[in-house]
Amino acid sequence: MVAFQLVRQLAQQRSLPLPSYAALIAHYTPDVAAYAAQLAREKRRQVYGDVVFVRGLMEISNICGNDCYYCGIRKSNTHCRRYALSEQDIMACCRQGYNLGFRTFVLQGGESGVYSVERICRLVRDIKDAFPGCALTLSLGEYPYAAYQAMRQAGVDRYLLRHETANAAHYAMLHPPSMHYAHRMRCLDDLKALGFQAGCGFMVGTPGQTPDILAEDLKFVEQYAPEMCGIGPFIPHHETPLGHCPAGSVELTLFLLSLVRLMHPNVLLPATTALNTLATDGREKGILAGANVVMPNLSPPAQREKYSLYDNKLSTGAESAHHLEALRQSIAAAGCRMVMDRGDYLPL
Ligand code: 5AD
Repeated sequence: MVAFQLVRQLAQQRSLPLPSYAALIAHYTPDVAAYAAQLAREKRRQVYGDVVFVRGLMEISNICGNDCYYCGIRKSNTHCRRYALSEQDIMACCRQGYNLGFRTFVLQGGESGVYSVERICRLVRDIKDAFPGCALTLSLGEYPYAAYQAMRQAGVDRYLLRHETANAAHYAMLHPPSMHYAHRMRCLDDLKALGFQAGCGFMVGTPGQTPDILAEDLKFVEQYAPEMCGIGPFIPHHETPLGHCPAGSVELTLFLLSLVRLMHPNVLLPATTALNTLATDGREKGILAGANVVMPNLSPPAQREKYSLYDNKLSTGAESAHHLEALRQSIAAAGCRMVMDRGDYLPL
């Protein structure tokens, strides 16, 4: 009973006290989740109609200097075959995507020095020149303010940097001592200040995560008010320190998507590849829970399996940008319509 009231309160006030988030997460039932999803779909419809935006995702490099305990492309994974796409490769992917109708490109990659900031900015300018009318999203990790500023000035529209967990002690359980929660948060502040459409996000079911910690994630998302928010289940990768840990819950991930939609009706919320990897019809379920973005893979097929963040990561079928008809049908099955516009965030 109380849980239904809390969901209604969130829909009306777009905010809940921290303990209420924790109580919802700890005690929700399938009925509560179904109610939250229904309200989330209504909110989404009020802002974006029946539209789901598609983005072309390019995994430009799996070379990474970080050693996150959960991630398959972590530095210490010597079994990972490393690659970095050249500028020509990336432009060719964009060209293919453009011809397929994509108007947003997302360049994601490991954090490393393979691409200098100057190289990234030159590439950004080349992409924006060659594909006018397209939006460009980067997801390349932590940089100093001046680097983000240069990227913004070069024409980057959006930047994704998941916060991973909004609890500093939990952050320290998932990352090596060289990585700092405070630094990540500072990066997120910088991205906001520079006028990017900024994306934060977190994994569901990482080891050590509790309802209280997830409540902190929700409170952080509420207050940071991101334009985009990536939420997907943790999935173990066998060559990582957390490889023996169980995967996160699909149901909880879906419930959290709905709650985030309720607090931020305008947020761009992807149905993630991780969700689709773990659940049959995960994409459809995510859309039914309130997601309104999908990001099929535009990377060169030969490299795709090397971008292995977690085991069994999907990159074929409707997860491939080259199978748009399958994606269109999947989105339609969830009652929505696939749209290939830039799909910018609509401010409140
Ligand atoms: N399971 C699920 N998501 C993962 N990511 C990295 N490793 C995993 C994993 N094992 C997510 C992180 C990162 C994004 C690029 O991929 O949240 O920010």
